[in-house]
Amino acid sequence: MKYFFLGVFTTLAALVVGGFAYLRLGWAEVRGDLPPSQLESYLMTKTVPASVRRRAPDSESTAASLYPPVPQLPKVGTEYSEAQIFWIAKHGVRRTGMFANGKWDSDKKLWTVAAYVQRIKSLPPHVQQELAKKPSTTQ
Ligand code: HEM
Repeated sequence: MKYFFLGVFTTLAALVVGGFAYLRLGWAEVRGDLPPSQLESYLMTKTVPASVRRRAPDSESTAASLYPPVPQLPKVGTEYSEAQIFWIAKHGVRRTGMFANGKWDSDKKLWTVAAYVQRIKSLPPHVQQELAKKPSTTQ
């Protein structure tokens, strides 16, 4: 009996440690442009309707916000490198609302976006002035 409980405990501990390592070591898939696995599809098709049924009557006040919140990059910047930002912009981020721009934008354009986002907190003054100008209504 002692060994039975030891076995159960060891299995549970291995699952917890393994799950934590899976997430922390970057093995979890985050790209938004990959088709979901069968398990993910099944869970989402069952989870979303169940959650809506349970929560919808009380959720109107929070309907306008997203979770996780969209990072306010011009205010907070980012610690990711240009190459990492390019990858994020190209593939999107699963389950966040951030779409995969690589579906319609060229790599060249996304590298330009990545260079801009990486320097977003330290843009030269003349660039900041241009960005602060109101957009022209004429084309
Ligand atoms: C061309 C457009 C976009 C670019 C270049 C972009 C870029 C980025 C970058 C660089 C990050 C990582 C920020 C960091 O943690 O330092 C990020 C994260 C995120 N983006 Fe976007 N983004 C774009 C559009 C969007 C849109 C339209 C949404 C949602 C409607 C969105 C939602 C998010 C969210 C929720 C995260 C945080 C994910 C997390 O770490 O939990 N993004 N984005």
